[in-house]
Amino acid sequence: MTATTRLRHNHPVVALRLDGATLRALDQTRLPFDEHELALSTAADVAEAIKCLSIRGAPLIGVAAGYGLALELHKDSSDASLESASTLLREARPTAVNLARAVDRVADAARSAPPADRAAVALAEARAIEAEEEAASDAIARHGADLLGDARRIMTHCNTGALAAPGRGTALAVIAELADRGSLEEVLATESRPLLQGARLTVYELGHLNIPHQLVVDSAAAGLIAAHAVDAVILGCDRVAANGDVANKVGTYGLALACGAAGIPFVVAGPTSTVDYDTQTGADIAIEERGPDEVRAVAGHLVTGVDTRCRNPAFDVTPAALVTALVTERGVAKPVSEASLGALRTK
Ligand code: MRU
Repeated sequence: MTATTRLRHNHPVVALRLDGATLRALDQTRLPFDEHELALSTAADVAEAIKCLSIRGAPLIGVAAGYGLALELHKDSSDASLESASTLLREARPTAVNLARAVDRVADAARSAPPADRAAVALAEARAIEAEEEAASDAIARHGADLLGDARRIMTHCNTGALAAPGRGTALAVIAELADRGSLEEVLATESRPLLQGARLTVYELGHLNIPHQLVVDSAAAGLIAAHAVDAVILGCDRVAANGDVANKVGTYGLALACGAAGIPFVVAGPTSTVDYDTQTGADIAIEERGPDEVRAVAGHLVTGVDTRCRNPAFDVTPAALVTALVTERGVAKPVSEASLGALRTK
C-alpha cells in the first residue's frame, strides 16, 4: 500500500466547503484512497461534478447546486445567465427532488432581486438551505435513534452520511447517533454496485466514526436478512412520493422485500426536502438510467466485453407498504401513507 492509498481516519469528512468564489468538493469518485478536492467556480463545473457523482447524495446535490447558481451569478447576474444556469443545474440528475427544489428556491430568490444584488441573495439562500439540511440531519438522527433504540446490528445501503448530506447525513446519522448512545454493536454495509458507494464511501465514513462494521456484497444481503443477521435495515431516499413510495439507490426494493419476508424493520430516513407532494406515486418518479460502462466495469476494470449490452437504472422504487417507517426531521411517519406524510407537512 503506498502513501496515497493509506486510509486516514483522523479528520472529519468535509464533502463541500465554500472558499471565496470557489466551491471546494471532495471528489467522491476518487474516494476512499485519494482525498482530492475539486475547485468549482461555475454552474457548469458544479453540474458536471453532480453528473459524474463527484458530488452525490440527494440533499448534498441540492446544496451544491444552490452554491453553483450563486457562483454563476457572481460572474454574470443577467436574466439570461440566471435562467441558463438554473436549467443546467436542475437537469444534472433527474431522480432526487432536492436538486430541482434547491435550484428553484435559489433562482426564485435571485429573480426577486435586482441584478446587482442577485449573487449575494442567491448565496444567502444557498447558505440557508445548507443550514436547514444540517439541522434536519441532527433531528433525523435523534428521531431515528429513538425509533431503533433496540437495534444492535443494522444493515445499510449506498451512502447516506456526511458525504451525502450536510451534517452527519440521514440514515448514517441515525447509525452514528445509535453508536453515540452506546447501543450499536455492528453495521453491515452493502457494496452498492455498480459504483460501490457502500464499499468506497460508507465504509470510509464508518471508519472515520469508529463504528464496527463489515462489508457485504449486495447479493448476500437478502440471505443475511432472512437469517436475522441484522435487527433492522435503515437507508436513505432520493424522492418520496405523496403516497409514501420511495425512490432510492438501486437494490433498495430487494432489501425491502427481504425485510418484509423476514419481519425485520425496513426504515427510510430523509429530510422533508426529499418528500415530493407533487408526485403522486412511485410510478411517477423519473428513474435515472446511467451509462453501460458503469456495469461493464468494477472500480474501473472491465469485467465483460466492451460492447456487452447493459441496463443501468441508478434507483428503484419501494412501495410505501413495504416501508416500516419514514424518519424525517419533523418526526416519524409510521405507517408510511398519504395521510402520515400529509400530517408531517403541516407539522
Ligand atoms: O447515486 P447516488 O450515490 O447519488 O445515490 C444516493 C442514494 O441513493 C442515497 O441513498 C440517497 O441520496 C440518500 S442521501 C442521504
